[in-house]
Amino acid sequence: MVTGAASGIGAGIAVAFAREGADVAVVDLVPAEQAAPVLAAVEELGRRCVYVQADVADEAAVRAMAEHVLAAFGHVDVLVNNAGIFTQSLLEDMAVADWDRVLAVNLRGTFLCTQALLGQMLERGYGRIINVASQLGQVGGTEVAHYCASKAAVIGLTKALAREVCRRGVLVNAIAPGPVLTPLLAGETEQWRTAKLAELPLGRFAEVSEITPTAVLLASEDGSYYVGQTLGPNGGDVML
Ligand SMILES: NC(=O)c1ccc[n+]([C@@H]2O[C@H](COP(=O)([O-])OP(=O)(O)OC[C@H]3O[C@@H](n4cnc5c(N)ncnc54)[C@H](O)[C@@H]3O)[C@@H](O)[C@H]2O)c1
Repeated sequence: MVTGAASGIGAGIAVAFAREGADVAVVDLVPAEQAAPVLAAVEELGRRCVYVQADVADEAAVRAMAEHVLAAFGHVDVLVNNAGIFTQSLLEDMAVADWDRVLAVNLRGTFLCTQALLGQMLERGYGRIINVASQLGQVGGTEVAHYCASKAAVIGLTKALAREVCRRGVLVNAIAPGPVLTPLLAGETEQWRTAKLAELPLGRFAEVSEITPTAVLLASEDGSYYVGQTLGPNGGDVML
């Protein structure tokens, strides 16, 4: 199950998982028509795809989503908490509602979806949870305090939960991508793009296809010794 998978990185991960032989539950806020391309791409690969329209920040909606997905597939092996939003404002000007919504989607959404699906993973003694954080949660950034706080918190949640559940068969890790020109960054100015390109060591933005292999690794048997890690496909923008 991949949240926020109607677009961008989540859509790429859903299709990459299907290519590896997985049936995929695609969850997103948008109406089903907008998720049609990713559903078609999964089905073209001969895998089943179920779409659930849900707001990951809404407790009741997440509970209903989990019931729907479990009724369709019986169980969920891999949960990718990818749904996220990004807005920009100096902290001194930041609307409280903006802070609350970014934290609600990026952090609370990750918590709610995890809690909704963790029980069946623990019962079966198997599961992978992959949280899509951001390099901004590692190094910070201007005009994105809410986003950085949410993503740093997702990294903390990843480490804490990884310790709680790894001996019960569930591995929890995070991915902290560098900049990818998805709709998330549609609001960025040409000036930002030029300045960002100049500071990126590789001199270019990432393609979605350069992020998805990290999710495939963490979901696969080859990823069996990653516990509580934050992997950084970021083109060298952040070196820790
Ligand atoms: N694009 C980047 O440069 C970048 C870098 C680092 C991390 N990320 C993270 O990657 C993830 C995916 O971002 P993207 O770049 O693919 O963005 P995107 O905007 O293309 O995709 C995000 C998807 O999440 C969905 N979504 C938003 N709020 C939701 C909600 N409340 N419930 C369910 N779905 C919701 C959107 O409808 C959209 O389909 C996000 O968590 C983002 O923070 C992106």
